[in-house]
Amino acid sequence: MNKPKIIVSKDGPYIVSGNVPLNKEIAEIGKEDEPEKWTETEKYPNKETYALCRCGNSKNMPFCDGTHVKTGFDGTETASTKPFLEQARTFEGHDIILKDAVDLCSVARFCHPKTGTWKLVVKSKKPEAKQEAIRQACSCPAGRLVIYDKKTGEPIENKYEPSITVTEDPQAECSGPLWVKGGIEIESESGKKYEPRNRMALCRCGNSNNKPFCDGAHLTVNFDDGDKSVKK
Ligand code: FES
Repeated sequence: MNKPKIIVSKDGPYIVSGNVPLNKEIAEIGKEDEPEKWTETEKYPNKETYALCRCGNSKNMPFCDGTHVKTGFDGTETASTKPFLEQARTFEGHDIILKDAVDLCSVARFCHPKTGTWKLVVKSKKPEAKQEAIRQACSCPAGRLVIYDKKTGEPIENKYEPSITVTEDPQAECSGPLWVKGGIEIESESGKKYEPRNRMALCRCGNSNNKPFCDGAHLTVNFDDGDKSVKK
């Protein structure tokens, strides 16, 4: 079996190979009226290779149906290939450190409840604050936020198996990015490699200014992939 891999094709779809499981998850709202939990709503049949839409206009979402050719989609990649730690700022906590690479933000808003991840990290001497900071950072699909253990230097997060999740954001009434989990290799159309990471969010609305990664533009354009659950 081939190693899980995603190729960002020139002005076209993501070509996924290596039998990567594909599912759908919805961002559910918690008590503070902010996203707090991911819930799986669908599993797609397993396939060795498949092509996922990245122009945002397929009529067969999440898969590519060739519409990008008719619309003349410009999928030029503009994202940095620098490793996460070179892009991230540092926020010191009691025995944890938060690393934050703001350019990778997909505006999933899991970092908002209970004063927000940054303040929780500062207050992380309190076990509840530490636990909540870790929970929030781990829910960030883009991997913008990663918490590290100060002593070991290791990230504290759920280690995912390679898989891709199609996300929906019913609170914002729009569809979200592709949540790429488990360190799948992502290769740009020029052959450059992005750092494989446990959590990454790929744009599938076609409007990000940080392609191939999501930058939250799906909220601005009200990206709708046709999933009824995102419209109230
Ligand atoms: S899916 Fe988020 S910017 Fe396109």
